[in-house]
Amino acid sequence: MPLLIKNGRVVTADSDFHADIFCEGETITRIGRGLDAPPDAEVIDATGKFVFPGFIDPHVHIYLPFMGTYSKDNYESGSKAALVGGTTTLIEMCCPSRKDEALAGFELWMSQAVGKSACDFTFHMGVTKFDDGTESQLREIVKRGNSSFKIFLAYKGAFGVDDAELYRTLKLARELGVIVTAHCENETLVAERSKELIAAGVTGPEGHHASRPPAVEAEGVNHLMTFAELTGAATYIVHLSCKEALDQAIAARQRGVRVNVETLIQYLLLDKTDAEQPNFEGAKYVMSPPLREKRNQPVLWSGLQNGLIQTVATDHAPFDFQTQKPMGRDDFTKIPNGIPSLEERVKLLYSYGVKSGKLDLQTFVNVASTQAAKLFGLFPRKGTIAVGSDADLVIFDPDYRGTISAATQTMAVDYSAFEGWEIEGRPSVVTVRGEVAVRDGKFVGTIGRGQYLARPAVH
Ligand code: URP
Ligand code: ZN
Ligand code: ZN
Repeated sequence: MPLLIKNGRVVTADSDFHADIFCEGETITRIGRGLDAPPDAEVIDATGKFVFPGFIDPHVHIYLPFMGTYSKDNYESGSKAALVGGTTTLIEMCCPSRKDEALAGFELWMSQAVGKSACDFTFHMGVTKFDDGTESQLREIVKRGNSSFKIFLAYKGAFGVDDAELYRTLKLARELGVIVTAHCENETLVAERSKELIAAGVTGPEGHHASRPPAVEAEGVNHLMTFAELTGAATYIVHLSCKEALDQAIAARQRGVRVNVETLIQYLLLDKTDAEQPNFEGAKYVMSPPLREKRNQPVLWSGLQNGLIQTVATDHAPFDFQTQKPMGRDDFTKIPNGIPSLEERVKLLYSYGVKSGKLDLQTFVNVASTQAAKLFGLFPRKGTIAVGSDADLVIFDPDYRGTISAATQTMAVDYSAFEGWEIEGRPSVVTVRGEVAVRDGKFVGTIGRGQYLARPAVH
């Protein structure tokens, strides 16, 4: 059914104006004032509301075999949560183990999503080993439209690659025009420091930060930057958490290294003291890199506003507090790493970024949608509101007031790291390629309608 959204305040990364938006099929076909609707069109009045392009979360885990367990969401719960939160496209990390072949891994991750997702999706292809068979498989995966890689400098023995593998991955990426996303922490330092802490009797969640302090992350970034400089590959640092790491990225950028930076909503709002809560409560907040000292937050917010940091993601990695986090009750190195937040990113970023004056509206759209589309080959199909773009739209009600709680969330996990946080504004209507998927804040979409987004290599 055609769709006419009337009288909204349309905000993109570079514009802000009042207009009507007409969508036919899956596409935006007209933008202007006083547009007429054909008799069969649905008309939605957006008076007093923002209309944003569908938000893109560039770092999500839905299917994640990790640390002896599996993350809790599947594509049905995960894509519903994404949409309720205004995210119409998610980019999942495809993370085969070092035992698995890349192509089989890609097909496995595809099989988790195709026919099951309500929102659109694509993957960063995890390169968790690089042996003689890997190169041809990666070439095939890129041919299938999966034009970004993911490498881990952390997680020794699980996903982590060695320096020869890192070098080969970056060289291939450079040749193919593929961007390499990277988890930057020095895995040897993490392993050695963890052993020391456990031996000294530091076994609770509060030991996690000490095992991987800012210098460990900064070394990881510097390490990647050296390899990026020598290969010329385009890089993207995922989940950057602190000033020390950002300084390394900026220094590299100044000498011409091709580097982009992602931070997370968790690092902008939560801090080290959350993971230090007694009675194992801190386990809810264990992720890597760890939540940092509060002094880092103004650095990250201003980095977003002034363009030093390109995107805000979630690194959504949901593990239940009751049954999964306790795997590490006596040893923090065994607590499944991750903090769920796929559903809350946009609301939190608006409430605590825009409303508090840390981000302007254009930057908010840019870091939560447009930049991800540009970096990962989705623009201008996604990430903006323009004639010819997919009709992925978020009608956002700035007058809504609510409180985050695990009791009311859509994500299939038993806690919220933002329990009790107040929200000012939320997506009230969300469309995916012209179909209404959220109405009055509730999911009304179609499981299985989400499409795999094949992307050209743009680097
Ligand atoms: O703690 C985290 N970040 N968990 C998810 C896996 C990863 O490193 O991205
Ligand atoms: Zn990571
Ligand atoms: Zn991740």
